[in-house]
Amino acid sequence: MTGLNEKNGVLHVDDVSLTRIADEAGTPAYIYSAAHIKSQYQRLSDALKKAIPADRQPLLCYACKANSNLAVLALLRSLGCGLEIVSQGELQRGLSAGFDPNVIVSTGVGKSDSEIRALLGANIHQINVESLPELERINDIATEIGASADVVLRLNPNVSGGGHHKISTGREHDKFGISEDKVFEGYAMAEEMEGVNIVGLSIHIGSQVFTVESFEPAFKKLASVVEALRNDGYEVSRLDIGGGFPIQYDNENLLDLDAYAKWVNEIIVPLDTEIIMEPGRYLVGNAGALLSRVEYVKEGTSRKFLVIDAAMNDLLRPALYDAYHGIEPVQNRDAGVQTYDIVGPICETGDTFSQDRELPSMSQGDLLVLKSAGAYGYCMASNYNTRGRPPEILVSGDSYEVIRPRESVEDILEKETIPGWLRT
Ligand code: LLP
Repeated sequence: MTGLNEKNGVLHVDDVSLTRIADEAGTPAYIYSAAHIKSQYQRLSDALKKAIPADRQPLLCYACKANSNLAVLALLRSLGCGLEIVSQGELQRGLSAGFDPNVIVSTGVGKSDSEIRALLGANIHQINVESLPELERINDIATEIGASADVVLRLNPNVSGGGHHKISTGREHDKFGISEDKVFEGYAMAEEMEGVNIVGLSIHIGSQVFTVESFEPAFKKLASVVEALRNDGYEVSRLDIGGGFPIQYDNENLLDLDAYAKWVNEIIVPLDTEIIMEPGRYLVGNAGALLSRVEYVKEGTSRKFLVIDAAMNDLLRPALYDAYHGIEPVQNRDAGVQTYDIVGPICETGDTFSQDRELPSMSQGDLLVLKSAGAYGYCMASNYNTRGRPPEILVSGDSYEVIRPRESVEDILEKETIPGWLRT
């Protein structure tokens, strides 16, 4: 059993009890299961291996915006994963974690001069271009430093995909990608450019995409654009088909990976290109939990609150997207059920993880977990209310390591200065 599981009435991550971690590392804390990350990688690559010929296997480039801790990156690298990055910071993380630049692809709508210089300097596999002005900028910088970049144009297919409007990226009014007509213009421009070598297209329609049918219009559009480009005499040798594979937060019906892989084999493989995918959440989301302790059980006039020591600064998803995260007690898991509003200590009403949640009765000092917090959890945490970010912990079998320590208030304050004229 990988990930969260119950042993002798106590919740564990793999073989480490969460009471032990709370005692030794404190709360709140992010905890990740190495075994679960490995098994997710395996499940995805097995589905692809089953459906797609060996010599046409996609390169899986982990979208590290989901969880960019160096240890998590090193784990995925050790499994054979490539990397998708969106900033100079993520490039630096990827290189520090030992990724070969030749398996790194870079997306992002606002690549700055210095980011482009860093990408060119590192000689990564490809830059996914999000606009024609960006194409020009890459060419200018590459020409100036005598480099040549492999680029793909990110097609905006004008379809809706993704579980929430804030994470849907493929509609024409979204800021991402290049419309079909401009893709042709981009190809024509790139043909005249010294500093870029245009090799194909990319696409990413959104996150938490639950059905093959939701991918379908985008992928069909991609295939038709490839054909039209080829008819115009252009070369298309690489397709990056993005990420978006869903995970379980509640009781969703998840994407059938076998059907997805079969379908990639039917629609994308015959286009005879190198294939790249960018899974993020799928690899790490269900591998992580945020461990927290109940500070108070507060009886309001009409509601009962569990005030816990984790807050929206630690896990922003519920406040930002009204996202659902499963919540479970670590001990006393069979206690009678009560209905709670589960809230953090931060000074705004949005600091609410869940309303009207039924949970086994809990008391002050009890531990609970917010589940499915391995993706877009720690990496979206902030210091709001001058709260240090929680530690990150990686469990491997029956042992664990702190892979990033708890941030102290001193860590936060040491970066700030009071100008001389304000010092007394
Ligand atoms: N590729 C590109 C170009 C992306 O923009 C993203 C995610 C991915 C791949 C990975 O998508 P995934 O496989 O993880 O769905 N903070 C939000 C999610 C934002 C996703 C941004 N882009 C959340 O907490 O739900």
